[in-house]
Amino acid sequence: MKELHIGDKIAKVPVIQGGMGVGVSLSSLAGAVAANGGIGIISTAQIGYDEPDFKTNTKEANKRAIEKHVKKALEQANGGLVGVNVMTALKDYAEHVRTAAKAGADVIICGAGLPTDLPELVEGTDSKFAPIVSSEKAVSILFKMWEKKYNKTADFVVIEGPKAGGHLGFSADQVAKFLSDEENFDDEIVKIIKRVRAQEKKYDKHIPVIVAGGIFDSKDVKHALELGADGVQVASRFVATRECDADIRYKQAYIDATKENIQIIKSPVGMPGRALRNKFIEKVEQSACKVEKCYGCLAKCKPAEIPYCITDALIKAVKGDIDNGLVFCGSNTGRITQISTVKQVMEELMAF
Ligand SMILES: Cc1cc2nc3c(=O)[nH]c(=O)nc-3n(C[C@H](O)[C@H](O)[C@H](O)COP(=O)(O)O)c2cc1C
Repeated sequence: MKELHIGDKIAKVPVIQGGMGVGVSLSSLAGAVAANGGIGIISTAQIGYDEPDFKTNTKEANKRAIEKHVKKALEQANGGLVGVNVMTALKDYAEHVRTAAKAGADVIICGAGLPTDLPELVEGTDSKFAPIVSSEKAVSILFKMWEKKYNKTADFVVIEGPKAGGHLGFSADQVAKFLSDEENFDDEIVKIIKRVRAQEKKYDKHIPVIVAGGIFDSKDVKHALELGADGVQVASRFVATRECDADIRYKQAYIDATKENIQIIKSPVGMPGRALRNKFIEKVEQSACKVEKCYGCLAKCKPAEIPYCITDALIKAVKGDIDNGLVFCGSNTGRITQISTVKQVMEELMAF
């Protein structure tokens, strides 16, 4: 089996479990993926939601929870690799990156915007870092910025395509074009890989490229590797596992989902996102939900102008209140039919 080498860090299986915000991927899921040879990723987005002082001391609760979950996942990992996903759009993004690196995260992956200062934030630590990009243009801009500012480049790159769950780096129109096969995202993947390979020559180092979005089985993994990728990032498939940190009702919503009730929504983050169509989505389409408390999660959120508070909606969902919460999911979630284990999912992904 092909290992994934990120500098001196080696994952036995070239599968990264994608970070899933607000409590869906914490230490239980990430530790299990790492123990099974992949790279387990904890999302730092409102990670402290179940800390006792979350509502009154949000920032500190999140920092404490980052340390706690990274350490706990590393303990479960049996020598495997554990990392974090930090959304660049978070107000406390820089602090989350620094806290995770200090706690011993092997890798740090940043999406939802371009992490222009990421090399500086991990300076002097052992953490390897990667941006999440959805176009060749984005990776080129970032590489040029990092070169000029730091004379540094990425340790690896994650390409997230239009079939992914959560926030998407595309307009709703672009997503529709890709899904109707009017445009083929494989062409963009190949262009991004070519750009990364040129960067490898410049810096004389291997920069693994990881493909994400809609990877469901070993056929998809094989296809990504044939396009020239070094590994895959998979998220939705890990939700309906025993080890996933979300409430059982969240996992059941995935099992009950069909292709028809997965839709693109407009998120308060300012980007389109993919989620399950449920009572909550129907309600906010009719009228906005008043924001009762602002947790200060996003750098650019305007509480008076948004249709609902995304933190509140995601917390309700992860705790199992599916009718009143926002359930992010990837485009292939309708194909999930049962609860399995991380080991089973890993084996299915690599069965070729
Ligand atoms: C429930 C859920 C939450 C997610 N939260 C985040 C997040 O907080 N930050 C992020 O960069 N990506 C997030 N993602 C995207 C995943 O990390 C991953 O790249 C993507 O979903 C891969 O596609 P797949 O779900 O079809 O495997 C989320 C995805 C899901 C399904």
